This record gives sequence, C-alpha cells and structure tokens, in this order.
Amino acid sequence: MLRRNIRAWSWRGIALGVACATPLAAAAAQRDAQGHAWWRHAVFYEVYPRSFGDANNDGLGDLSGITQHLDYLRDLGVDAIWITPCYPSPQVDFGYDVSDYENIAPEYGSLADFDRLQAEAKKRGIRIIFDFVVNHTSDKHPWFLESQASRTNAKRDWYVWRDGKGPTQPPNNWTSIFGGSAWQYDRATQQYYYHAFYPEQPDLNWRNPAVETAMLDVTRWWYTRGVSGFRLDAVNTLFEDPGLRDNPTVPGRNAYGDQNQVRKYDDNLPENHRVLRELRKVTDAHDAVLIGETWTDDVQQLKAYYGANHDEVHMPMDLMFTGLGRVPGGHQRLDAPTFRRHVAAMEASGEWPVYVVSNHDIPRVATRFADGRHDDAIAKAIGAFYLTLRGTPVMYYGEELGMQNNDPQRKEDVRDPIGIKGWPTEKGRDGERTPMQWTAAPDAGFNTGAKPWLPVPPSARTHNAQTEGQDSSSVLSLYKAVLKLRHENPAVREGGYVPLNEGDPNVMSYLRRYRDAAVLVVINMSGEDRTATFDLSAQGLRGAAGRPIIQSAASGDLSSVKLGPYGIFIADVKTAP
Ligand code: NOJ
Ligand code: CA
Repeated sequence: MLRRNIRAWSWRGIALGVACATPLAAAAAQRDAQGHAWWRHAVFYEVYPRSFGDANNDGLGDLSGITQHLDYLRDLGVDAIWITPCYPSPQVDFGYDVSDYENIAPEYGSLADFDRLQAEAKKRGIRIIFDFVVNHTSDKHPWFLESQASRTNAKRDWYVWRDGKGPTQPPNNWTSIFGGSAWQYDRATQQYYYHAFYPEQPDLNWRNPAVETAMLDVTRWWYTRGVSGFRLDAVNTLFEDPGLRDNPTVPGRNAYGDQNQVRKYDDNLPENHRVLRELRKVTDAHDAVLIGETWTDDVQQLKAYYGANHDEVHMPMDLMFTGLGRVPGGHQRLDAPTFRRHVAAMEASGEWPVYVVSNHDIPRVATRFADGRHDDAIAKAIGAFYLTLRGTPVMYYGEELGMQNNDPQRKEDVRDPIGIKGWPTEKGRDGERTPMQWTAAPDAGFNTGAKPWLPVPPSARTHNAQTEGQDSSSVLSLYKAVLKLRHENPAVREGGYVPLNEGDPNVMSYLRRYRDAAVLVVINMSGEDRTATFDLSAQGLRGAAGRPIIQSAASGDLSSVKLGPYGIFIADVKTAP
C-alpha cells in the first residue's frame, strides 16, 4: 500500500491564510423541468490531457486519446469533462503557462482534433469545459514578450512591473506560491515583474482595462467554438495591493525554505469579484458555466465566490472538502462527525455545493484515506458519500477505479518543478497525474508505443477500467451504480439533505427527499462492523420500509442495518400504504 503524507496543498501556503437571479440570454438557456440550468445536475469529470489516452503513441496523452474514450465516459455517467489546459505552452507548469489562448498545443493535437472531440462528445451528451488560466500567461506569450521589450512598450502595463527597493532588492517581501521571491528581475529594462507562481508565469495586470477586454474576448472565442464553460484557475490571486505593502510574516518555513507569510496583500483582494462578475456576464450570454478553483478557509469565504447576487462563479469548488479528516502525519481518515459538520455548514450557507475529493494538485483520494486493509472499500465509501450529497460533483479521472498515487521515489525521476525544488519535503504532483489505467496490459493500455511520460504503478494490473468493468464488486461498478442513481432518482437528483442519527460517531446517515420520494444513505466511516437503526417517523415517514438499491458490505432493513468496515447501504424509502 502506498502511504504518504498529504501535501499541505493550498495556494495560501500556511494555515493562517494560505489559502438566481442573473438574467440569461433567454434564447440560449437550457432549463430542466424544475427550471434549473443544465450544469445543476451534471456530473463533471476532470481530464488531465497529458495522462488520459495517447492516440499517437508518443508517450503523451492527447485530444484524440480523449475522443477514443468517450464511450467509457458516457457509460460511467459523465455529463461534462473539464480538460486542464491544452493550449500551446512551454509546459513549464504542464500547460498552466499559456503562450496562445486560442489554439491547441501541437503535442495534444490541433483545433480540428478539438472540433472532432467536441462533436463526438456532443453525440454522447457530454459537454466540454476548458481551463482558463486567468491570473498569468507564459513568459513566452507574445503579450509578455512585447511587455518585456521596453519600458515604453504599449503592453508594458499588461503585466505587473515595478522598480526594486534598491539594487538587487525586490519591491517587497512577497513570496511565490512555488517558492522564492515573487519578483523576477529583468536585466534589460531594469525592473522586476511579479509572478504569483513560477517566474515563467508572469501575472497579468487586471487593473489594465485592455487586459480585461483581451481576456474576456478569449472566453468569447471558445464559447463561439462550442465550449460549455471554464474552470477558472487561481482566481484568488488576480489582484495585488497597489501599495505593494509587505505581507506579515509568521514563524516557520515552508517546503521551499521561505519564511511563512500571511498572504494579506497578494491574495483574495476584493477587486477579484468585479472581474468574476464580468466573466459571468459573458458566460451567461452563452448558457455556459464557470467553475472556480476556490481555495478558501471557511464556508463564508467560499460563499463570497458565488457572488452577493449570484452573479459570480456558478460552481466555486469546495476544496476544503479535500482536507477534512486530517490526522497527525498528514494522512486522512473518514470521520463521520467532521464530514457531518462540514456538510451541515455548506447546507446552512444556502448555496449549491460543489464537492471535490481530489485533482491534479492533490494526492489521490484513494491514497490519502487508504489504511492498507480496506483500500477499495474506503474508495467506494467516499464515492457513495460525496456523489449522493446535494450539489454538483467534480470527479477526477481514475478516482472511479480507486487509482492511487504513484509518487517518484528518486529526485531524478521527478517531472513537476515544485517537486524538484521542494524535494524531499515536497515531492511534486507527478504521483496524482499518472496515466489513466485502462487495461491490465503493459502501461495500462494508455498507449502501445513510447513509454508514457509518467510510470504506471503495478496496481494497474487489478485497478483498471477493463478488469473492474467485469467485476460487479469493483470500485468502478459502485461508481457506475451511484452515478446512475444520481441521474435517475428524483430524491438524489433534486432532493433536500436531511441528516440522521447525528450522534453516531461512526456511521454517516442521511435522507435525500424530494416530494414523496426519499432515499436513505448509510455509510460506515469506520474499519469495524457497525449497526445503524432508523425510525423515520420524525421525518414524517411513519412505518417506512427501505428497498436497498445499492449495498456493499451491508445488509438488513431499516430497523437494523448491519455494515461491515466502510460498508454502504442505500435504500429507496417508502411508507406503508
Ligand atoms: C492551479 C493549477 O491547478 C495548478 O496545477 C497550477 O500549477 C497553478 N494553478 C498555477 O497555474
Ligand atoms: Ca500523444
């Protein structure tokens, strides 16, 4: 079993603070019977294009590799795929350094390949969401090359250039999220430019209206080409304090050796919200959706990203959810009271939740919660849990297989620059970005040619789509069953969330209720056998009986549900006539 510490991943670096009423273009807006926009009940699935499918066998995934696997995604129950950046890029940060926002990276294909992918996806009822890197470009983007050319260049003010405090002294103490000073000196023009991430990712100056116009136009360009929305990268870092005040420092150093800072003046500035409202207007005019990479400390901060008038991000991701249940040493464990409290807080916020359990920056959920004895049962319990909650989930490729991290063992094998810089404290993100495991064949059927860009773990022999597809007790089969339920059952699709047995320290139980439909979800969040009993008369369901729809390591009826370690019991609840 692979066990590792969870990276203290947060753009906000340290615990202290690292971190509808909108008018729609009526003609374009698609609403369901309840009047909800299409994304409200969609299942989103993140695809890391470099690692999903390699159609031309060069070792790197590509857009045609995604097209080849669309039937799998349809059968799984996916409605929309968010593809992480596939624009032309020097790939310093594997695509999050964009050098042309209106094209496709040649290693991933062409615009024609994109059009084909989109057309094939549409046939299967799957929409495409792109990743919009709003905070920064690549230092090779023509905008930056112009900006860097001279202090008087028309694009100089498209980025954040400042004089140093003195010879060899940057303008202030801000550190980059990826380590070191956030300022890079440019010898030719003798000024510093600001970069919240790598020096090769200079921050755009969103105070310049020309930047805003150009960036909004990028979204229009892709909407016109057919994308159904964007996941907005690093939305909390768009603005910096105009006075460039130093951030307060606190004791301790991070994985890169930098002194810890409270990111008071370079993060989460109120100005962000105005930009989000502008992006939202363009998005709504195309009946599309905005998903936010929203790192927040609490539910109130997250709530702010929806917009005071529900006019900002439609789906700000609840990334706090990925950190729940941490235990000393960095591992996580399913802990019913912790999860219950968090869901209750989201419910109380009055917003539509967007739960996420992992992504390309966070170690895989099946690794973070693994105990070495019940790994698959735990992976199933997590899937059954967050996919039956109220809200729109965003899955991460391979999660449905119980894929685990495959972290590099030696520094020389690391590909992610933050792993090279932070080794061995920070091993980088390669481990959660390994090729999708399709079959039991060598390299998990990712391709039949060059070695994949990252190695496939031995566990791919058992944890792959083909093998698990033939096993009704696999993680994949459980995910498929739960996603089917999400789509078909009105209580799970539309229903409210009613917590049950709130004093139970081990078993998480709740009802989803919509009109006269009710579904009971019971999940044993412990490694021991447990029994849960239910009397639903207080919920107006006197004499209720449950018809199990999905069960794994569980049996019984409502008066006594017996659950094995991490067992799941999901039942349709009916009252006696
Ligand atoms: C967040 C992305 O998810 C991450 O992969 C990237 O390195 C940073 N933003 C910088 O763009
Ligand atoms: Ca390829």
